[in-house]
Amino acid sequence: MIELAPSILSADFARLGAEAQAAVEGGATVLHVDVMDGHFVPNITIGPPVVASLRKVSKVPLDCHLMIERPDEFIPAFAEAGADWISVHQEACIHLDRTLHLIAAHGCKPGVVINPATPVHALDEVLPLVHHVLVMSVNPGFGGQTFIRSSLKKIELLSRIRESRQLGFRIEVDGGIHHETVADVVRAGAEILVAGSAIFEQGDPSESARQLLKSALHAAKQPVQGLSSAVPGGVAGDGGSSLSLP
Ligand code: DX5
Ligand code: ZN
Repeated sequence: MIELAPSILSADFARLGAEAQAAVEGGATVLHVDVMDGHFVPNITIGPPVVASLRKVSKVPLDCHLMIERPDEFIPAFAEAGADWISVHQEACIHLDRTLHLIAAHGCKPGVVINPATPVHALDEVLPLVHHVLVMSVNPGFGGQTFIRSSLKKIELLSRIRESRQLGFRIEVDGGIHHETVADVVRAGAEILVAGSAIFEQGDPSESARQLLKSALHAAKQPVQGLSSAVPGGVAGDGGSSLSLP
């Protein structure tokens, strides 16, 4: 099942409720909330009060992507504010297993995120614990960056691992998703598609969501062919060498 998760990072924060609602009317079924602390990433965004405000105006799951250091200290506040899903970066968690259990203990779905430079196999031990794995297809910190194509083989690898180990996590992708990239990520196996600038910086968020979802669903119906050959290193490993700087 393909789901669209608009990132409110690119929304007009003065009109946040209306913009989020418009994206949901266009078919979005999750709202992605980017939390940045100015330490783990070179940018600062929002915290629990904004999640609490969104909770009041929207019924869809709130997917809180924590790009912060020491996430354990803030997980209770995000859960209290109404987060449904909370994801943390593998790179930010010294005791990742403990952090994922902490998220679940607060009644939220735990997710784990990997940066473009982090291999899928860094997650081997925690895959049975997570509701979703979020593959960053840009370096986190900003909206509107260029899609990093080496993320495609990481999505493919996750999909294979899930099948071979008979696990149930969902595969989410975040960064540079728009009309030119959405088909490739869907064919690689991504199911939850985060998009910020493609939804909130192209005019009507409702229509933008509708069109992007349409492209994604169309790609999901196409036979998978030739994807790996477009990615240096194919699907055999997850180290890859393709680089794309913003
Ligand atoms: C980047 C964020 C993304 C970002 C995506 O650090 O995690 O969610 O908002 O923005 P686009 O879709 O514009 O690349
Ligand atoms: Zn994000």
